[in-house]
Amino acid sequence: MADSNKAVKEYLQIAPYDQLLTHFRYFLNLRSQEGRYHSLILFRLASPLDGAIGSSSNTEDAPIESASKHKTSVHQLYAMESSCPHLGADMSHADIEEYESSAVAVCPWHRYDFDLKTGKSDTGLKACTYNVEVRQDPTDDVDRVWVEVPDEGTNWRLVELRPVSEAFADPPPPLSDVSQLALSESPKDEDVVPADNPPTTLMQWAVLILNTSNPTLKVERTKHAVHQFRTGQLKSIGHRSPNAPRPPDVPPRHDAYRKSTVDPAKAGRRKNRVAMLHALTNIEQWAIDLAWDIMARFGPTHPDLPPAFFSDFTKMALDESKHFSLLTSRMGVLASSTPYGSLPVHAALWSSARSTFPSLRARLAIIHLVHEARGLDVNPATIARFARAGDKDSVAALEIIHADEVTHVTTGHRWFSWICARDGVDPVTTFREEVRQGWSGDVKGPFNVEDREKAGMTRDFYEDLRGEMEWDEWERTMKVAEEDMRKEENTVGSVAVEYEGSKS
Ligand code: FES
Ligand SMILES: [Fe+2]
Ligand SMILES: [Fe+2]
Repeated sequence: MADSNKAVKEYLQIAPYDQLLTHFRYFLNLRSQEGRYHSLILFRLASPLDGAIGSSSNTEDAPIESASKHKTSVHQLYAMESSCPHLGADMSHADIEEYESSAVAVCPWHRYDFDLKTGKSDTGLKACTYNVEVRQDPTDDVDRVWVEVPDEGTNWRLVELRPVSEAFADPPPPLSDVSQLALSESPKDEDVVPADNPPTTLMQWAVLILNTSNPTLKVERTKHAVHQFRTGQLKSIGHRSPNAPRPPDVPPRHDAYRKSTVDPAKAGRRKNRVAMLHALTNIEQWAIDLAWDIMARFGPTHPDLPPAFFSDFTKMALDESKHFSLLTSRMGVLASSTPYGSLPVHAALWSSARSTFPSLRARLAIIHLVHEARGLDVNPATIARFARAGDKDSVAALEIIHADEVTHVTTGHRWFSWICARDGVDPVTTFREEVRQGWSGDVKGPFNVEDREKAGMTRDFYEDLRGEMEWDEWERTMKVAEEDMRKEENTVGSVAVEYEGSKS
């Protein structure tokens, strides 16, 4: 927690003030040189409070009035840790209640409220809050926002800055925008929330979504579950419950997609843009499942995982759903006669998921720090290819996806570092060992060194690294995954939603 008595407070530059006016809330992820992570929510209040002139008022170099168009407004910026100090709820969707001279953030789970400036609560608990300053840079007269950094750790840097959600856009998005992510394909064949035995924990939602074969419904259920979780309508994670449901060995696929699942070698080269988009869409669909699977599979076996783990991976699941939707929308525009599911797809990603069933550390290493990091390497060339074809809309979609993917590798690095710290082992040597055991062949470059580094993956993690997993073993895992996919052929209508309606 920031100590107000500390003689010299250190601050980190976040962004020009003008760039933080599109939304009322931003998520900030900071990383220290030692590999510590710290997530904060930056709140901007709409109106000044009486007698309180924002966190910027107490420093000489922090003008409370900007020379810009915001001349008359007082900067009402507050930074608070993103996890509730009570039981760790995500505070990004906390209600803000404003009083005459103070404002509180009300936790969505149990409604404890925390003063935005001091972090204090009537309950006696205290949230960590961080001073925010708006400083006018004398070199270019631009107002920039600075946030005090945590005490523990050195050389903090900002590794992620994003609006919390469009729900906090300023001005609010027009209603028509809300449907932007709708898919162009067939409507769902079941309700988003099942009428019978609706999920009551995040674990139950995860398993339901993994067992949802219709991709449209998978996306809608993901959006719904994450919204419920963030807004406190779903208060229980349920990973410590003895009745936590088991995830399926392989997520079922809708008829059309399953039938066209082939050996990756036979999936063909991605010859044209539509085929490329189709292949990427397939990966995104698996990526949605992978985000839910890591929570459902490893949550119950790791009761010490804190709520922040689930906040990060639900955010990933939501991102992957958005990616899936963006890509299917582009395919709908470019070639409506070639919808998703009409070209061969493969299940290669799931074979890596499968080979890492026994170990969370291996899962984080192989899926998020090898596969997803590889995505960072190849995305720029893919984007360039669409740019050369003059396809600006696809470029825009792929750029959004790429920026999100950097944060997914960051999430992988964050939790890999967390588990290594818990186990008292070195992250770099442990990562290299996991890859040696769980990967086959070289970890291929060329590497996107810059974006990997943003995500915490410095060169010492991946350079000159070769997996020594026997190719036979790899192929065997792949075959099992494919066979499981085909086995589902006659049973798709009867795939049971394997969870019990128990609360934890
Ligand atoms: S009040 Fe926030 S988790 Fe309970
Ligand atoms: Fe993605
Ligand atoms: Fe991803």
